[in-house]
Amino acid sequence: MKLEDIKVVGICGSGTMGSGIAQVCAQSGYKVILYDISDEALSRGLNIIKKSLSRIVSKGKMTQEEADAIAGGIKTTKDLNSLKDSDIVIEAVFEDMSVKKELFSKLDEITRKEIILATNTSSLSITEISKSTSRPDKVVGMHFFNPVPVLPLVEIVKGLLTSDETVDLAYDFAKRIGKSPIKTKDQPGFIVNRILVPYMNEAAWAYMEGVGSVEEIDEAMKLGANMPIGPLALIDLVGVDVTLAVLEVLYREFGDPKFRPAPILRQLVRAGRLGRKTGWGFYRYEDRT
Ligand code: CAA
Repeated sequence: MKLEDIKVVGICGSGTMGSGIAQVCAQSGYKVILYDISDEALSRGLNIIKKSLSRIVSKGKMTQEEADAIAGGIKTTKDLNSLKDSDIVIEAVFEDMSVKKELFSKLDEITRKEIILATNTSSLSITEISKSTSRPDKVVGMHFFNPVPVLPLVEIVKGLLTSDETVDLAYDFAKRIGKSPIKTKDQPGFIVNRILVPYMNEAAWAYMEGVGSVEEIDEAMKLGANMPIGPLALIDLVGVDVTLAVLEVLYREFGDPKFRPAPILRQLVRAGRLGRKTGWGFYRYEDRT
């Protein structure tokens, strides 16, 4: 399979990440098929895409007609079999190994054997996911960053069984959709989350210990360390549940107490305060996209 052979991109999961990935692929001229299990999830995903495109239109960087054509070119489906003619599939469902394994095993049956199956997992083992297919050499991590239309990085993660050809093709594809890929190894958290998520967790501990209010901690990091957004607002942007899931993987895999999640994160998840996507995390939000 060569880069020129990729025409149709299948995306699994229409949440924040899946919809962002669908958008950048469609913006780069690919035919996109976006799969999720419910109409509600799909329409929320399309809504995120339309909102993001309208921001780009309002900046004068795209016409409304172009935005409509991009959004209109993304086909949504609740039937996984609709991904059978994909030339690459990128999975972005929630961070649960058993869900991912089941999905990859089905994708392996449905799709052509020569295509790459990529996962946007933020910290789960690519090698373990790859073993649920008959083509572990073609399973690779393509880890995007939120907001996907804005942040340039894609981590290209090589599992123990991933071939060099697969890594190179995923790398070239990421470049083709306008991203700046960096290759890394299948280690918990890869590069960015290994470093960034403990920083976010430390802010949650500091908040619990009364070092400052939510606003004070965030303002301090913006004003004193020139961060574009405070760490607690970043947890809300990424998702409290996603942040907790990454920390749990880091804690379990390294067995190092420095990664232990701040209990406030678990409490927020139990309360359904998952951040921006549910309208309430550390902050309240009018706009959930
Ligand atoms: N779609 C399209 N454009 C968007 C957008 C979106 N969803 N969100 C922001 N933008 C654009 C804005 O329109 C604006 O464009 P211009 O430069 O043309 O004016 C630009 O991005 C900056 O946005 P704003 O002015 O609204 O606000 P800002 O300056 O605060 O930037 C931000 C917003 C880009 C999100 C910035 O706050 C930021 O970079 N935050 C840090 C994000 C981050 O660290 N993400 C990584 C999280 S870790 C992760 O994702 C991995 C994981 O697995 C957990």
